[in-house]
Amino acid sequence: MIKKLCVIGAGTMGAGIAQVAVEKGVEVTMRDVEDRFVEKGLSTIRNFLGKKLEKGKVTKEDHDAILGRLRGTTSLEEAAAGADMVIEAVIEDTALKQKVFAELDGLCAPSVILASNTSTLSITKIASVTKHPERVLGTHFFSPVPVMRLVEVISGEKTDAKIVAATIEVMGAFGKTAIKAKDVPGFIVNRFLCLLYNEAADQIYKGYATAQDIDLGLKLGSNHPMGPVEIMDMAGVDVVNNALKALFEMTGEERYRPSPLFEQMIGENRLGRKTGRGFYDYAK
Ligand SMILES: NC(=O)c1ccc[n+]([C@@H]2O[C@H](COP(=O)([O-])OP(=O)(O)OC[C@H]3O[C@@H](n4cnc5c(N)ncnc54)[C@H](O)[C@@H]3O)[C@@H](O)[C@H]2O)c1
Repeated sequence: MIKKLCVIGAGTMGAGIAQVAVEKGVEVTMRDVEDRFVEKGLSTIRNFLGKKLEKGKVTKEDHDAILGRLRGTTSLEEAAAGADMVIEAVIEDTALKQKVFAELDGLCAPSVILASNTSTLSITKIASVTKHPERVLGTHFFSPVPVMRLVEVISGEKTDAKIVAATIEVMGAFGKTAIKAKDVPGFIVNRFLCLLYNEAADQIYKGYATAQDIDLGLKLGSNHPMGPVEIMDMAGVDVVNNALKALFEMTGEERYRPSPLFEQMIGENRLGRKTGRGFYDYAK
């Protein structure tokens, strides 16, 4: 098991990953590019833990010990110093991730595991800028990280099997279940989810079914905890459209071509909960 984790990026995913690790007894230093982003990530974690304390889900002693293991910084050198593993969760951009990995490769000893939380990008491409691609792999967490139990562990072309095994052990210690995925666009889970979302939009677009009936159908007929249409409104219609577009461009597979309904809804600012209207109306 690792003792110290470095998390790069203090956004939604970076803060979630840092929280899970400190709660499991690991020292974490989380790095972002500006103090205000670091502070935002740290306060997300403090708020989450504060609520747990209020509800009696954690003792005051444990709460303080957990926060005592957490540090924030804007210095990459400081964040990487002494870490056994690094998990990168900066924005989804290959060039930016490559820059971060090239820097980390120079700062961290070859035994340090370098993981990316990318949801769509090629691990092989990210690893290609490093001198030690054998210690680079993907750890794809799901949002919200403290709640979702799955992590996809993705091997690049040159990833060492021992690094994969060690990472799966770390994910287990974080309370997550890992599945091994190949370095293909969408890995395992998003290839399914994107099809489900596109099919739901297509049925609504063609007038075959209503949003309500699709959600009820999958909840009651297939035991899904939430319907695909509700999820799209929660994630953002634009976000789902971008994910489908990326998968379609990367695979060339017609089944991932986004339904025309997405562009239509984006044009009408029906982006989901965040704009008050998506497939459902939240104004009422
Ligand atoms: N949000 C999700 O549901 C989700 C789920 C799975 C995977 N992911 C992936 O996780 C990654 C992060 O996503 P997010 O939703 O947390 O994004 P986010 O925009 O919330 O956070 C990204 C953070 O990275 C910071 N950053 C940019 N350049 C940096 C650098 N050089 N060093 C350190 N920090 C830097 C930004 O300032 C920002 O705070 C992306 O690759 C995304 O595709 C996201």
